[in-house]
Amino acid sequence: MRITFVLIILSWYVWACSAPESKPQTISGVEIYKTRCVTCHGTDGRMGMNGAKELPDSPLNAAQRIEVVTHGRNIMPGFKEMLSEEEIKAVVEFTMTLK
Ligand code: HEC
Repeated sequence: MRITFVLIILSWYVWACSAPESKPQTISGVEIYKTRCVTCHGTDGRMGMNGAKELPDSPLNAAQRIEVVTHGRNIMPGFKEMLSEEEIKAVVEFTMTLK
C-alpha cells in the first residue's frame, strides 16, 4: 500500500519536472483587453467612454494601433510603462478581431 503511494508520488514528480515548460507564460490578448481597455472601450469595443473610438470600426491597421496603444493619443493613455511589447501586440491582435 505504502510503496504504491510513494511510487505514484514519485512518478508524478518525474512527470511534472519533465514537462517542457513547468510555468508556461501565455500572453492572452483577451485578458489584457479585459483588464486594461474595457473601462473605456467596453467588451465589444463600442462603449466609447470619454470619446474612445469604436474599435470595430477603426480603419487603423495593427501597426498603427500598436502606435496608439504604446504612446497613447489625446485622452487615451499610453501603455508602454504597463505592458510589454508582446502584450501590446497580443491585445492589438485581439482588437483586430472585434467586429
Ligand atoms: C482612459 C480610457 C481608455 C483606455 C483605458 C483605453 N483607451 Fe483606447 N482610446 C481611448 C480614446 C479616448 C481614444 C480616441 C483617441 C483620440 O481621440 O485620438 C482611443 C483610441 C484607441 C485606438 C485608436 C482607434 C482609432 O481608430 O483611431 C485604439 C486602437 C485603442 N484605443 C486601443 C486601446 C487598447 C488596446 C486599450 C487597452 C490596452 C485601450 N485602447 C485603452 C480611450 C481609452
